[in-house]
Amino acid sequence: MLRTQEPADKVTLTESYSAAWQSGEISDVGNVTLPQRPARPARPELRLPNDMPRRRKGGAAGRMAFLHAIAHIECNAIDLAWDIVARFTHNDLPRAFYDDWVQVAADEARHFDMLQRRMAQLGGAYGDLPAHDGLWQAASDTSDDLMARLALVPMVLEARGLDTTPGAVEKLRNNGDAESAEILLTIGEEEVPHVAAGVRWFRFLAERRGLDPIATFHEYVRQRFKGYIKPPFNYAARNTARMDREFYEPLTPSP
Ligand SMILES: [Fe+2]
Ligand SMILES: [Fe+2]
Repeated sequence: MLRTQEPADKVTLTESYSAAWQSGEISDVGNVTLPQRPARPARPELRLPNDMPRRRKGGAAGRMAFLHAIAHIECNAIDLAWDIVARFTHNDLPRAFYDDWVQVAADEARHFDMLQRRMAQLGGAYGDLPAHDGLWQAASDTSDDLMARLALVPMVLEARGLDTTPGAVEKLRNNGDAESAEILLTIGEEEVPHVAAGVRWFRFLAERRGLDPIATFHEYVRQRFKGYIKPPFNYAARNTARMDREFYEPLTPSP
């Protein structure tokens, strides 16, 4: 999967692997050597975050740029889910761990597909625009430690997605694009269990390692996350994911 270059193939392979896992046809993850970076298609052209063109404010071009950026996140999310399944097998994890992340992979593939179809309806495609290459950074920075990965990816980055989705849905609706708004709303709802899985397995590992989950989370984020945890927070969604305020509020920049 991580060696699969074309996003459409990532989607179909994810669908068949996740179905085979859920039916019990595949029951063992095995030991594989993973690439440091997953294979990516020739397009979109990947750029450093600072070299990205400024997003245009409104109109059809602005909307396409927005959908393209989200599709890029979802494409990365497919790889991130399979990476967490396959990279940390030395941790002796229960089957329920793999069930959760295989489900996440299936969700991310569906999300990517929904966006891809919507872009096609609007006359565009994934790959048409440059995309930023910062997203795999959090994965590379945490490939040595599953707790670090859970802290930075589901508990920081995906939780951030919960915060930004309602505003984006609202904006799409106000701009008269109810279809895209609906897609984004569905994606936002389906991201809640991803954050929940992050919290659940982070707590599981903290307990196993005899660590305080809150203090350990703060340490990982301070040491490894190159960004800010900033409000406004979507407390309702975060609470549903059992992401308590004590995890993230102490990490917000002081005013
Ligand atoms: Fe997603
Ligand atoms: Fe997700």
